[in-house]
Amino acid sequence: MTVIPVDLSNSPYDIHVRAGLLADVGAILRSYARDSRLLVVTDENVAHAVLPQFAATLSSAGISCAHFILPAGEAGKSWVQLERLTDWLLEQHVERSDHIVALGGGVVGDITGFAAHIIKRGCPFVQIPTTLLAQVDSSVGGKTAINSAAGKNLVGAFHQPALVLIDPEILSTLPTRQLTAGFAEIVKYGLIDDPAFFAFCADNLDSFFAGDPDIRAQAIIRSVQSKARIVAADETERTGTRALLNLGHTFGHALEADTGFSDRLFHGEAVAAGMALAFRYSVRLGLCPADDGMRVTALLKRAGLPTTLSEAGVTANGAALVDYMRHDKKMSGGTLPFLLARGIGHTFLSKDVALDDVAAFLDSDV
Ligand code: GLY
Repeated sequence: MTVIPVDLSNSPYDIHVRAGLLADVGAILRSYARDSRLLVVTDENVAHAVLPQFAATLSSAGISCAHFILPAGEAGKSWVQLERLTDWLLEQHVERSDHIVALGGGVVGDITGFAAHIIKRGCPFVQIPTTLLAQVDSSVGGKTAINSAAGKNLVGAFHQPALVLIDPEILSTLPTRQLTAGFAEIVKYGLIDDPAFFAFCADNLDSFFAGDPDIRAQAIIRSVQSKARIVAADETERTGTRALLNLGHTFGHALEADTGFSDRLFHGEAVAAGMALAFRYSVRLGLCPADDGMRVTALLKRAGLPTTLSEAGVTANGAALVDYMRHDKKMSGGTLPFLLARGIGHTFLSKDVALDDVAAFLDSDV
């Protein structure tokens, strides 16, 4: 078992990573179960694939679980589902000492964390992420949210989990496209500030996708260590350090908006194209060596990820994409902070980006 601490002064917690962890999760969760009961939130897909075995494991540790099932996909992150979920928690007589368990991908983790934040003014929750993207990104760091008519994740709160449990073995049940999308967020940590980890991703890409358990565990552990370090340095994204985790996301969100935040373009795929665009834009600005821009694009392509607008299925022109960016929640005082790079592993936050120039770049990029 690898245990990675998240060193937050008010709400420190541990992330446990071990292949096969889910098979004896009951023993780990025993001390989190008030009156030997846990309230588990999951979605239709995970309920089908994992919940029966999960409940049996808890039961053999003397824990019963009541469970709530969300619809699969982004539809699970709505006001309607939040109301259903909080009503259910109240029907279950949830108390502030109860741990609510999020068993699923990013959608389940985000809405469960938000419900835990507001129910009875705050209950603890445990994250058990079952997708690669949730394991290496959204389950760690306490960003919780639902979507509103105005956009994704616009209603939410910071609410740190009490514990994160990651079992890399569960990835063998994921469709390849989901695994590939999650891989983009792994590469991101190398691009932010760890060139050696970028090289690790490049050297071990084939083994990762072939299912090598050691390479998968190492990739997850190193990603989570990076995320824990960055979150501990800037828990609520005030100083600019945590903003580095948004590399590729400003371009990416515009691409997601143009494709209707739908399965046409997964979040991780949009981030991949966004990171490739951020690097090529940095090259165009003379900030980043052209060779680094090409290496980033080449690695993401090798993983099967989109790296251009057309590969991402986006037909909008630069002006339309920049218009989406103007609605970004990071927009401040008429400017949009952008993550740019001086090279692989040297990402920085720029507040001087001219959106018209970004639009011209998008029209010229092929
Ligand atoms: N996914 C970005 C963050 O957690 O800050």
